[in-house]
Amino acid sequence: MYEILKVESLKVHYGAINAIKGIDLSVEKGKLVTLIGANGAGKSSTLNAIMNIVTSKKGKISYKGKDITKTRTDEIVKNGIVLVPEGRKIFPNLTVQENLMIGSFGRKDADIKRDFDLVLGLFPRIKERLKQAGGTLSGGEQQMLAIGRALMGNPEILLMDEPSLGLAPLLVKMVFDVINKIKTEGKTILLVEQNASMALANSDYAYVLETGKIVLEGNGKDLLVNAGIRHAYLGIN
Ligand SMILES: Nc1ncnc2c1ncn2[C@@H]1O[C@H](COP(=O)(O)OP(=O)(O)OP(=O)(O)O)[C@@H](O)[C@H]1O
Ligand SMILES: [Mg+2]
Repeated sequence: MYEILKVESLKVHYGAINAIKGIDLSVEKGKLVTLIGANGAGKSSTLNAIMNIVTSKKGKISYKGKDITKTRTDEIVKNGIVLVPEGRKIFPNLTVQENLMIGSFGRKDADIKRDFDLVLGLFPRIKERLKQAGGTLSGGEQQMLAIGRALMGNPEILLMDEPSLGLAPLLVKMVFDVINKIKTEGKTILLVEQNASMALANSDYAYVLETGKIVLEGNGKDLLVNAGIRHAYLGIN
């Protein structure tokens, strides 16, 4: 077991609002770890804190044993942690190909073409639309583009903020298929989701976040059958 990412005693506040009230979590290399929670639970704040894009946080974040709590976001990306942000945030006026290439910005290695081919292999629909403006893609295609752009940074860990949000069931399934394929490429994934059933069924380990606190954690499939989770997150009595 090798903890590639570790979050200790993390607190995040926005002015008087305490969004994260001291949480610990760790992600093992090669695993898919999920953070589930309702709207406002603090899921995005956790990912943004790891990327060091929140203004006020306390605690410690380590990556491969190194303290990255205060590391600049662009350095964090260069070191191998890339975020697929909530709401996709693609560039609507740039072409699909340009959007993808932005993900490789700053890279100097020789493997950019390899990763481009990997992305096109994962997303045939994106491959057919390379010259089209990003903003003309459907919601599902934009989500694929956002994931593809992140992969162009050749991350070791991919942080994903609600990739299935707003997608039809068939596309949700496709997103999870892609996530599993990315995992088989040897990448580690920290996923944030409100779609608890899909997320738990697919994850190796999961944390449940409620108003800034972790209230439960365990093996994904164990949580899936947990009575409290079934009631609160899956709507099953
Ligand atoms: N920039 C901000 N300024 C003030 N409050 C914020 C800011 N960002 C988040 N918050 C507050 O922090 C809390 C956690 O927000 P966060 O976005 O992390 O939740 P979330 O779990 O990602 O929710 P969602 O599922 O709706 O995306 C919320 O109460 C939110 O209102
Ligand atoms: Mg969020």
